Amino acid sequence: MNLNNNLISVKGRERPLSQKQKQVFLSLPKYAFNFSLFRDIDYINKNKIYLEIGFGSGEIIFKEAKKNPYNIYIGVEYYKRGVAQLLKKIEYNGLKNIKISHGNAHKFLEKLSGVFFDEVWLFFPDPWPKKRHEKRRFIQKESINKLHEIIKPEGNLYISSDDKSYISWTLSLFNQNNKFDWLAYSRLDWEKPYKDYHGSRYEEKGIKKKRKPYFLKFKKIN
Ligand SMILES: C[S@@+](CC[C@H](N)C(=O)[O-])C[C@H]1O[C@@H](n2cnc3c(N)ncnc32)[C@H](O)[C@@H]1O
Repeated sequence: MNLNNNLISVKGRERPLSQKQKQVFLSLPKYAFNFSLFRDIDYINKNKIYLEIGFGSGEIIFKEAKKNPYNIYIGVEYYKRGVAQLLKKIEYNGLKNIKISHGNAHKFLEKLSGVFFDEVWLFFPDPWPKKRHEKRRFIQKESINKLHEIIKPEGNLYISSDDKSYISWTLSLFNQNNKFDWLAYSRLDWEKPYKDYHGSRYEEKGIKKKRKPYFLKFKKIN
């Protein structure tokens, strides 16, 4: 399956940037993720490196990066307005530990070869609830294999969603994959938000519409 087909799913819903957002977008090169960063093995081993896929407006990555200035946070997002919103927060607060990759996360992952991340976050991915759209979901057999490849030994992967069918889909694919442990011992483990988790704008909107969020946590086994 060509996961880049997902680009179809994220294209076409971009609203144009406001003048202010256009201005702030110009600062992207200062914070853009550069793959050469990952050629330095010492850098990878010495630092705690986090990846957020589809950060939306960037509330979570921003708050975490501000709280933990010695960790490195890499965010991938296709949505230009979201990138501009995160850039605004980074500039205003003078953060130095966030790198942004603006574009399709599947393409980003394809270009990575090696073990880099202590944690990967996929919070509220586009749910694509209709059966005929399931192939557009971010979580697929291939993306799970890729995530397994790039996460450090014993590293964690967090996936949340308020779409029950996405949660069942994810659990079933992880069960088949067998390279991650699902860290859940009682229903509280998937019903209660992660420890120290801040919540996102998309999640809040769902809660207002009475959609219940679920929080999955996986650990890489081998
Ligand atoms: C439902 S929103 C959730 C945003 C955020 N994680 C949150 O919880 O508020 C899903 C986000 O993933 C982004 N996205 C979806 N597919 C993507 C892809 N293939 N590459 C990069 N970003 C993607 C969308 O642009 C959107 O911002």
